[in-house]
Amino acid sequence: MRLQGKIALITGAARGIGLTFAKAYAAEGAQVILGDINLAAAEASAASIGAGARALRLDVTSQESLDAAFAEIAATGGIDILINNAALFDAAPIAEITRQSYDRLFSVNVAGTLFTMQAAAKLMIAQGRGGKIINMASQAGRRGESLVAVYCATKAAVISLTQSAGLNLIPYGINVNAIAPGVVDGEHWDGVDALFAKYENRAPGEKKKLVGEAVPFGRMGRAEDLTGMAIFLASPEADYIVAQTYNVDGGNWMS
Ligand SMILES: NC(=O)c1ccc[n+]([C@@H]2O[C@H](COP(=O)([O-])OP(=O)(O)OC[C@H]3O[C@@H](n4cnc5c(N)ncnc54)[C@H](O)[C@@H]3O)[C@@H](O)[C@H]2O)c1
Repeated sequence: MRLQGKIALITGAARGIGLTFAKAYAAEGAQVILGDINLAAAEASAASIGAGARALRLDVTSQESLDAAFAEIAATGGIDILINNAALFDAAPIAEITRQSYDRLFSVNVAGTLFTMQAAAKLMIAQGRGGKIINMASQAGRRGESLVAVYCATKAAVISLTQSAGLNLIPYGINVNAIAPGVVDGEHWDGVDALFAKYENRAPGEKKKLVGEAVPFGRMGRAEDLTGMAIFLASPEADYIVAQTYNVDGGNWMS
């Protein structure tokens, strides 16, 4: 019960890693708010967790949506922990990247992360009880990838924003850190696999199998592999950790 009495907002928590984090946080005693653009799915996911979890409509690309969500959060006990988890993925060779794809990914992954972090920080500063902010980066933010230029750039931006915000907010007792997963199985990766099947002319499922075999640990990650770090970074044990990005990737990347 390391998060007993804490209130945590997790964006993009209707499914995947965000939902697994919500379950893990609830099991540690936190009240969890599953913020997602897909309210119906977030409601079903919150119901699957039970007491202590609720869904909130949140589009991280919309300031109006952020303002409404944080007004509700401020009126219902405030916020102690934010996980900036909502993100989109796309892949294409440089010659085929569209402005539409670029704008969508930067809007959700970068502006969404920054302005959700800003909204949480403003409320945390006003509350005066500190806080923890965890941004979801990726191994993709550590280096370029031939077919993944835009997503890689968004995740490099998340690592950079984590560093600047970490420095700016620690005087208020707000720790900002990030987690960089490697390849994590789930619905998200089914979409990634389909894009690689198209651009690398592979059979469905082939890319997923290859990336899993290439992980030094010996398999793809599971969302559950990330929960230990997510709980630790939200706990008082991480009070002295500022502006860091931790690789939790089975050994894929070292930095
Ligand atoms: N799965 C992986 O292999 C992997 C690897 C590295 C990093 N990550 C990162 O981990 C995080 C979670 O990944 P996942 O695999 O669970 O993704 P996912 O696609 O399964 O889930 C993303 C969630 O975000 C929500 N969302 C999308 N746009 C939104 C918006 N504008 N506002 C609010 N919610 C929105 C979706 O509805 C969905 O519920 C992401 O930041 C992702 O980049 C994932």
